[in-house]
Amino acid sequence: LPTLRVAVLGAGTVGTEVLRLITKQGDDLAHRIGGRLEVIGVAVRDLARDRGVHVDPALLTEDASALVRQADLVIELMGGIEPARSLILEAMEHGAAVVTANKALLAQDGATLYEAADRHGVDLSFEAAVAGAIPLVRPVRESLAGDRIDRMMGIVNGTTNYILDAMARTGASFDDALATAQQLGYAEADPTADVEGHDAAAKASILASLAFHSRVRLADVHCEGITSVSDQDIAAAERMGRTIKLLSIVERVPGEGGERISARVYPALIPSTHPLASVSEAFNAVFIEADAAGSLMFYGQGAGGAPTASAVLGDVVTAARQRLRGGVGLRESHYAALELVPLEEL
Ligand code: NDP
Ligand code: HSE
Repeated sequence: LPTLRVAVLGAGTVGTEVLRLITKQGDDLAHRIGGRLEVIGVAVRDLARDRGVHVDPALLTEDASALVRQADLVIELMGGIEPARSLILEAMEHGAAVVTANKALLAQDGATLYEAADRHGVDLSFEAAVAGAIPLVRPVRESLAGDRIDRMMGIVNGTTNYILDAMARTGASFDDALATAQQLGYAEADPTADVEGHDAAAKASILASLAFHSRVRLADVHCEGITSVSDQDIAAAERMGRTIKLLSIVERVPGEGGERISARVYPALIPSTHPLASVSEAFNAVFIEADAAGSLMFYGQGAGGAPTASAVLGDVVTAARQRLRGGVGLRESHYAALELVPLEEL
């Protein structure tokens, strides 16, 4: 079988699980792909840190730039804007396909990455960037590409759902619940991104861009987090038969002279009988309303090392197959941005 040289950038919560799956399922993956994945290096900051049995210390390097230049496939799992953006661009320039889970980068500067992937004729895939293990990016990008998506609504951040759920069900404090979410590998390196709603807003911008074939950036999303939600708010909601959930909503709205997009993230009171109210722990759930398909619901583990690694590996298999066939998968075709509507106008 032919061999594909794989560079992994980051061996934290997700990277370690990706490496575990590549080792554990090596033979199966080789059959499914029609070629072997050879991990040629793993870029990290701290070479001395113990990363468990699934990360071969001999593969660790601090020189991510040299690593990406030798790879056929780069898996970016370090997070943050820089150096992740430069490394992804460098990888594509050298002809490597890229798989990333980096929603913050895609939301801030996805256009540059899509454009570079097009220019260099390589794949850029990011199923893991939205809603962990749930197949959502691919259905929106591919399965529903022939339909017209009108609205997507749901819970796309596991950490805040874990916190709100723990506060409501066990009476845990905000700080204790956040600390547990961090220990379980759900939170971002800086959990401010979770609790302030920025992570959910980044995902909303990615979904809105794909669903509406437009360009919606993080700054375009109205964003409120959960830091001001108190125990008293949760108790009051319960007395009213309501549950507080951090919702992300992206939708088309009619406007003068044409259609617009509204994208927003905020804690909402929802009836406790609504399916979203029973989404517990770090699970995510998203409803899609499309013209011909009608209503669709997606549900599953929205965060954590193994669930996210599942989505990453799905992209890796697809990109590797494409690579061996000498082709490129999906191209992103963004149209000029539909005008965004501020929340208060709705
Ligand atoms: P971690 O913080 O656990 O791991 C990050 C890894 O990247 C670490 O190994 C770190 O090295 C390495 N790294 C960071 N900066 C650099 C750098 N400048 N140079 C070299 N290596 C670097 O993050 P996660 O695994 O949780 O997340 C990775 C990505 O996946 C992020 O984009 C995140 O948003 C996304 N994601 C995470 C999910 C989750 O549930 N955790 C779910 C979906 C997406 P070192 O170990 O030496 O510090
Ligand atoms: N911090 C993110 C969350 C990870 O809690 O949802 C998954 O994207």
